[in-house]
Amino acid sequence: YEKIPVQIYEEPATAVVTVAKEIANLIRSKAEKNEKCVLGLATGSSPIKLYEELVRMHKEEGLSFQNVITFNLDEYLPMPKESEQSYHYFMHHHLFDHIDIDPANIHIPDGTLTSEEIEKFCKAYDQQIESAGGIDLQVLGIGRTGHIGFNEPGSLPTSTTRMVYLNDLTIQDAAGDFGGKDKVPTRAITMGVGTILKAKRIVLLAWGEKKASIIKETVEGSVSDKVPATFLQTHPNVGFFIDIKAAEELT
Ligand code: F6R
Repeated sequence: YEKIPVQIYEEPATAVVTVAKEIANLIRSKAEKNEKCVLGLATGSSPIKLYEELVRMHKEEGLSFQNVITFNLDEYLPMPKESEQSYHYFMHHHLFDHIDIDPANIHIPDGTLTSEEIEKFCKAYDQQIESAGGIDLQVLGIGRTGHIGFNEPGSLPTSTTRMVYLNDLTIQDAAGDFGGKDKVPTRAITMGVGTILKAKRIVLLAWGEKKASIIKETVEGSVSDKVPATFLQTHPNVGFFIDIKAAEELT
């Protein structure tokens, strides 16, 4: 495979300006053709500044999201929508409440489903993505286990949207947000690796020294379900946008 193109920035703030411009250009070029723009979105700390920049472009530069359809990667399970720890809350708080997106165009996995409802929901989620024309651009973060979405080690490149169990390290990393490890949900609904790889363009964001070793494994390691993010090496149009700290171990 071609090596994943990695762009290294002094500061996350400058990296996200580049990514936000790419997203804005895509949205505008689709709008000119009267087409919808389908975005796959991530939560967590990595994309917060990107969403801030998109909100700024909406407010100051008239960037409209009226032709945008979004699909979020994942949601904890169980998780009420109104909970401050929900990805539902996160997305509204950081992005959706501040832009002109049609609420009907927002899709986030539902953390309130019963075990019996989950499978049907997941199948429908993949079908909705397909019916929308597929994801034009997918934003990703990366977990220290090598997860993208919540596709933990062992996730196959063909996996679709489904219920998963979170790894101990992932739960540990989320403990701060939940006020203790024992309060973090052990399950989630996530798009599959296969769902993600179908996106026409993928941008991955990673900041800080805590991500340095997983970034090295993902970019330089062999492709394996031991590090699901390595499947990104097989994607023809992926770009990593990282800061110098996350790039520290790259050779
Ligand atoms: C979030 C998601 C996760 C995060 C990853 C990194 O929707 O799918 O894969 O991107 O856990 O999280 P942060 O950005 O908080 O380091």
